[in-house]
Amino acid sequence: AELSNILRQMPKAELHMHIEGSLEPELIFALAERNGVSLKYASVDELRRAYAFKDLQSFLDIYYAGASVLLTEQDFYDMTWAYLQRAHADNVRHSELFFDPQTHTERGVDFGTVVNGIYRATQDAQEKWGLSASLIMCFLRHLSEEEAFATLELALPYRDKIIGIGLDSSELGHPPEKFARVFARCKDLGLHLVAHAGEEGPPEYIRTALDLLQVERIDHGVRCLEDAELTQRLARDRIPLTVCPLSNIKLRVFDQAKDHNMVQLLDAGLVVTVNSDDPAYFGGYVNENFLQMFAALPLGKDHAYRLARNSFEASFIDQPTRQKYL
Ligand code: HPA
Ligand code: ZN
Repeated sequence: AELSNILRQMPKAELHMHIEGSLEPELIFALAERNGVSLKYASVDELRRAYAFKDLQSFLDIYYAGASVLLTEQDFYDMTWAYLQRAHADNVRHSELFFDPQTHTERGVDFGTVVNGIYRATQDAQEKWGLSASLIMCFLRHLSEEEAFATLELALPYRDKIIGIGLDSSELGHPPEKFARVFARCKDLGLHLVAHAGEEGPPEYIRTALDLLQVERIDHGVRCLEDAELTQRLARDRIPLTVCPLSNIKLRVFDQAKDHNMVQLLDAGLVVTVNSDDPAYFGGYVNENFLQMFAALPLGKDHAYRLARNSFEASFIDQPTRQKYL
């Protein structure tokens, strides 16, 4: 079969996708209208033209503005359902969704409104397609440790709807150790732990995410190759990296697809996975990430299967179900 068909058709898991980053410009405008929220962009086209990012922060500013249209449980349902339809079309069988409650509770949206809307859509996807999806709650690292603890308190009544904890937003200047105590508390609660590290930040942030936060996976982590000892450790301990190629290019971590270090990461024996990060902002859902990488880099069929297999190995699906995919 043709490589592009293999990439599209192979069953896969997606492990690094911010649900607020799946909000397409058309839906942003529809929700703004429905909720009477005013945007500083006059049209879908004008908004889309603003998607020219120079770094992580320039993206985050627009991403938080886009999320401001989300107010009701139905809004969170509609956003999540739209993503799950795309994921299903890309043969995603399992998805672990990040959500950023602080982006919403800061605007006065109730925590339950956020979780219930997202969760109800995941249940419908399970029922309709057998697509399993679980939720990872992220703390915004530009906010304080105290605010993270307060958010964790809000989450406790919804503990059974959340499988893990992540750390996202502005990386530089907000090292993992800022959240060591709140992550320790989350570990006691039996939550899985992950963190963004080594996207724009140095390899040191990957090391401290492992040592001080005790994370099980690193989100992005592409800068690990600057540190040979760290790279060996990640390979030896089979710590997965949830890599997001189109994101890395749009946020200028690498200039072009052909400059991405995916091949070197794989050659170093790392458990690499391919993910879309914020697909509405970065130019494509998970299959588009696979297709563009495989078109630009010396990657073939064996790499495709390895990446798909890695996605299930790196997932938090229960062991018997995971075994079914390996
Ligand atoms: N990095 C950090 N924070 C984020 C990202 C990202 O890629 N996407 C959404 N929030
Ligand atoms: Zn991310």
